[in-house]
Amino acid sequence: MITVLGATGNTGRRAAVRLVEAGEQVRAVSRSGRPVPGTETWQGDAGDREFLTRAFTGADAAYVLLPFELFEAGYVAHQDRLGTAVTEALRAARVPYVVALSAVGAEVPGGTGYLASLHAQEQRLRTLDADVLFLRPGLFFESFLYGLDAMRAEGVHADTIDPAVRLPMVATGDVGDAAAEALLGRTRTGVRELLGPADLTVPEAIAQLGPRVGLPDLGYVRVPDEAMVDALTGIGMPPDVAALHVEMNAAFNSGLVHSAGRTADATTPTTVAIWADALGVPA
Ligand SMILES: NC(=O)c1ccc[n+]([C@@H]2O[C@H](COP(=O)([O-])OP(=O)(O)OC[C@H]3O[C@@H](n4cnc5c(N)ncnc54)[C@H](OP(=O)(O)O)[C@@H]3O)[C@@H](O)[C@H]2O)c1
Repeated sequence: MITVLGATGNTGRRAAVRLVEAGEQVRAVSRSGRPVPGTETWQGDAGDREFLTRAFTGADAAYVLLPFELFEAGYVAHQDRLGTAVTEALRAARVPYVVALSAVGAEVPGGTGYLASLHAQEQRLRTLDADVLFLRPGLFFESFLYGLDAMRAEGVHADTIDPAVRLPMVATGDVGDAAAEALLGRTRTGVRELLGPADLTVPEAIAQLGPRVGLPDLGYVRVPDEAMVDALTGIGMPPDVAALHVEMNAAFNSGLVHSAGRTADATTPTTVAIWADALGVPA
């Protein structure tokens, strides 16, 4: 039996579906309890260590991630609380094999915005007496969808990543596939980066997304950091969370966050065009 945390989300759902297809018994953990076909539904909070211990007990393997809240203050403390609960529940349930979702840049201790919480979580999970594989994807294509309302309102995508910076960007479906592959094999440990088919600039990614979401002329504007913080707090994001967003992008711009290098193993198949075609948003 395999427990999948975040089983209704981007990566967890894909992993759970793949595991069910392969004949595995799956416990699908989420806060909402939305059903995932073929799995047992386990509804509860990732900050609840006792609930998680029950959900992990009896599992031969688990997929774990760190759910985040962009519209609640105290981002880092919230991540630490959830990360500690997940780690201690895995320890208490003695799960022998764990695939943990992390990110490119999680090897850097700080100055990386949201990514520093993933660094801290990797450090916690390394204390387990278990075999652990860390998946470190680049930027999710799906992360552009957070800005879709603003793109529709403004006619542009605005952010603080420098337009010439090339970043690894990846489809979450490919991340879920990599998770399922590891969970079925139960042998791979260490770190696996997942970098998409090619590094892209934000303007390149936006040029593929725009026409597929009814915005054929969608462009990219690199706004000043302070203006971005104002825009994010203006839509209700707490200042600490907005500051982490801008700090992460600055770490992309400076090269502080970078992949270990593109290899065949780190290269995943889905292009941004194929991903955007599958969105099914009427153009
Ligand atoms: N965005 C990026 O570009 C990027 C890149 C690399 C790594 N990451 C990392 O990827 C992770 C997110 O993965 P994802 O995109 O697969 O997830 P997601 O789509 O954001 O979904 C989150 C999942 O966790 C569940 N969840 C949320 N809060 C919960 C809570 N308090 N207790 C229990 N379950 C909870 C959600 O369930 P319900 O909503 O159904 O309740 C859902 O199943 C984060 O750790 C992020 O740092 C993101």
